[in-house]
Amino acid sequence: MTGINNRYLVFGSTGDLSKRKLFPAFYNMLINNNLNNSDQIIAFGRKQMTTDEFLDNIKENINAFSRYHYNEKDFENLRSITKYIILDIDDRNQYIDIFKQLGPAKQSIAYLAMAPSFFYQIACNLANSNISNLNIVIEKPFGDTLDDINMLHLMLLEHYLEDNIYYIDHYLGKEMVRNILTIRCANSIFENLWNKQFIEKIEINALEKVAVENRASYYDKTGALKDMVQNHLLQLLTIIALNDPSDKTTLKSQQRTILQSLYYKDIKDSMLLGQYKEYRNEPMVNPLSKTETAASVKLYIDLPQWENIPFVVSTGKNLSEQKTEVKIYFKPSLNHLPGNVLTINIQPTEGLNLSVNVKKINNEDNTNIVNLEFCQSCNLENKINTPESYEWMLEAIKNNEHYWFSEHEQIKTSWLLIEKMFLEYQKEQLDLYFYDDQIRIL
Ligand code: BG6
Repeated sequence: MTGINNRYLVFGSTGDLSKRKLFPAFYNMLINNNLNNSDQIIAFGRKQMTTDEFLDNIKENINAFSRYHYNEKDFENLRSITKYIILDIDDRNQYIDIFKQLGPAKQSIAYLAMAPSFFYQIACNLANSNISNLNIVIEKPFGDTLDDINMLHLMLLEHYLEDNIYYIDHYLGKEMVRNILTIRCANSIFENLWNKQFIEKIEINALEKVAVENRASYYDKTGALKDMVQNHLLQLLTIIALNDPSDKTTLKSQQRTILQSLYYKDIKDSMLLGQYKEYRNEPMVNPLSKTETAASVKLYIDLPQWENIPFVVSTGKNLSEQKTEVKIYFKPSLNHLPGNVLTINIQPTEGLNLSVNVKKINNEDNTNIVNLEFCQSCNLENKINTPESYEWMLEAIKNNEHYWFSEHEQIKTSWLLIEKMFLEYQKEQLDLYFYDDQIRIL
């Protein structure tokens, strides 16, 4: 193949992330012409197999995980730009040979869908292979401790410019998370009221039906705080709280400012950790494990526009329902009727709901609360046309849109805060509560 524009290098191509997210995303991008025959996907793996055998495994996943159903023509297009290459990731010379044979590409995007212990070795071997315009994409966990994370970043900087390192947080690729920016700046009724004068509390809830599944070896040493709160949910919080939603070019620095301004008050009122009752019986979980599978934290932002306004961020696994939402509680009006609540539904339902007070029919003195509702995903066509988070992210890397990614400084800041809270919670010997299928929210 000659004249390659974007070459995607997928490390860990037979793993879960590749099967469930990356290859379905490539397939969808191809259908939408965001990938074409001037692009190339190189899937690296250890297993002995041919490209056709690799793609036969991928085919099964297209139906299960892709928003567009499998069809032969589109899959053949995917086949024509994909190549599976067996690689020993430690063997530096193999990389050099492979890239010599592959020839040049305008831009290469290396997606490291592997455990963090492999990141540096792969990044190093790639950097030594004379690949022009090489970007490296990594995703959490970046390490078990902040020292690991800092060390990895320093090592990556030995070979890569900060601009060529993409720290993915897939929550920033969710359609409704991006929509928050638009909803805020396209509606004066919201944006003018988006401050402490009119808002009394903000809640972010990410409730999951899934339990720990087959990930106990990772999860039991990580817990809900580091798995969900420190990254995805604090990213979401920054999108709600940042000052100027219209300016994407400063998104990263605005998010950083919010993260650096977060603080909590008394730990006893600021954190609540829980564990689902069957957790300790899950395979690979320590039977005495104190790992939290649910967390609720109450944070404040030390900036004038958010002075004293609580942001309550909560998440939990193995619950009766799956729902990610942001709830903006507006202050009650002077006549003490309930304040309006704007709910931004992120998943699985995508849309908005605004509660308002109206007069009861045939009654001058009393009111009812009614909901003005917009459900984007209730429309099947919308649902099919909504890109998956990973499509957005791969597209953003291709276009070098850095602002949709996290960065080392943000990761470090949020990690320090969450770790400090966790250590204080332990020091105070605060309880871990046990739940059936509902979590407690502060
Ligand atoms: C991952 C966590 O980063 O995000 C998982 O490791 C969690 O534990 C998942 O289930 C949630 O992502 P989503 O897109 O399903 O909300």
